[in-house]
Amino acid sequence: MLVSENKATLTVGGKERTYDVLSGSCGPDVIDIRKLYGDTGCFTYDPGYKSTASCESALTYIDGEQGVLLHRGYPIGQLAEHSSFMEVAYLLLNGELPSQQELDEFTWTITRHTMLHEQLATFYRGFRRDAHPMAIMCGVVGALSAFYHDSTDISDPEHRIISSHRLIAKMPTIAAMAYKYSIGQPFLYPDNSLSYTGNFLRMTFGVPAEEYDLHPAVEKAVDRIFILHADHEQNASTSTVRLAGSSGANPFACIAAGIACLWGPAHGGANEAALNMLREIGTPDRIQHYIDRAKDKNDPFRLMGFGHRVYKNYDPRATVMQKTVREVFDALKVDDPVFETALRLEEIALNDDYFREKKLFPNVDFYSGIILSAIGFPTTMFTALFALARTVGWVAQWNEMISDPDQVIGRPRQLYTGPTERDYVPIGSR
Ligand code: SDX
Repeated sequence: MLVSENKATLTVGGKERTYDVLSGSCGPDVIDIRKLYGDTGCFTYDPGYKSTASCESALTYIDGEQGVLLHRGYPIGQLAEHSSFMEVAYLLLNGELPSQQELDEFTWTITRHTMLHEQLATFYRGFRRDAHPMAIMCGVVGALSAFYHDSTDISDPEHRIISSHRLIAKMPTIAAMAYKYSIGQPFLYPDNSLSYTGNFLRMTFGVPAEEYDLHPAVEKAVDRIFILHADHEQNASTSTVRLAGSSGANPFACIAAGIACLWGPAHGGANEAALNMLREIGTPDRIQHYIDRAKDKNDPFRLMGFGHRVYKNYDPRATVMQKTVREVFDALKVDDPVFETALRLEEIALNDDYFREKKLFPNVDFYSGIILSAIGFPTTMFTALFALARTVGWVAQWNEMISDPDQVIGRPRQLYTGPTERDYVPIGSR
């Protein structure tokens, strides 16, 4: 970062103070207020952190006004078109696109970590069959720290790398096992001859009784969906992982915390909620009623898959996702009317003053569920796939934080509005 020539001047209690403005490689400058409380005795107040940069990062850049998303400088559209999820994972972790040899070695390392400790399979049997896969993911990923003591010393760079590879490698196995458990089918072990994504699809939809017929178009579409979900700056779940990691918690516990946060319908749970909403709307003639509900301040209903804290333009991931719907429908000869409903809803909303004024556009979650449903995933698995892919970003962000020499435990303050000091009143006198 660079100290800008601009300065920020603040007058508190009649006293003027000046603060540095710091510039990154692109995007908004930041006002360095690290000394503000010591200087003024005041905190800043920013619920939801709408105007707060929590850290310095070189991983992902978003320009919400322009609808730009870069991973280590590469536009998401180009990565979705030309790269693979394993290559994007390498890029996010290491900062540069890999050579063929580097990619082969990285992929082989990840492949060799896809098996789970055999005792973890019994962990699943503690859940009800109808447990939500995200509940299972929270539990099983958190439990990994009980099995891999040889990679939980975060001060050891080797441990950090091994635990990073284990988390990226085991998420598909854990997610696939959550699905198998929910439908009462046997778990399948990983097959090292398949790609990362092909292996996940076989563990999810294959059965021991016959060979699994991996559809190349499905493998490519799911791999692209993983790329689109890999990382996204300091979103709620990534910030959760960073905050958990700032206390020195082991990486498995930190990723479990990220999974818990991602589950919320305002965040990663929106893909499941969006498809459920589209199915509830049903036919295009019912769209206006839901648009009217979304605009009604007295109605808590929101258009799921619409709006974003940062994007005030079309989410570039939604653009790729919409194109992928058509590819999957053509490949699988699917014709789900819910896609037409989604296209029509988007068209009506984007021509409605309410959505235009509030700059509410489709986000990554609006179309993803349509694709995943066409491939055969139940809606309950949608956020589990989001967590599987976002583990790459969480792990990369966690590594960046842990290796930052300025890293300290995150500990926000508050504006206290509770009772001032008062004496205890014995129960007989209340
Ligand atoms: C993800 O942060 C990330 O990067 C997240 C993510 C990632 O990759 O990690 O991109 C993934 O979480 C995408 C978002 C998925 N969530 C949804 O699709 C749920 C529906 N969307 C909203 O709940 C909402 O848009 C948020 C949560 C996404 C963003 O909320 P903000 O930034 O806090 O904005 P807000 O709630 O203050 O809304 C601003 C205004 C409000 O109206 P006013 O109070 O100003 O009158 O817009 C309205 C809101 O009521 N609004 C909506 C709306 N989203 C916002 N109105 C109707 N439908 C919506 N979807």
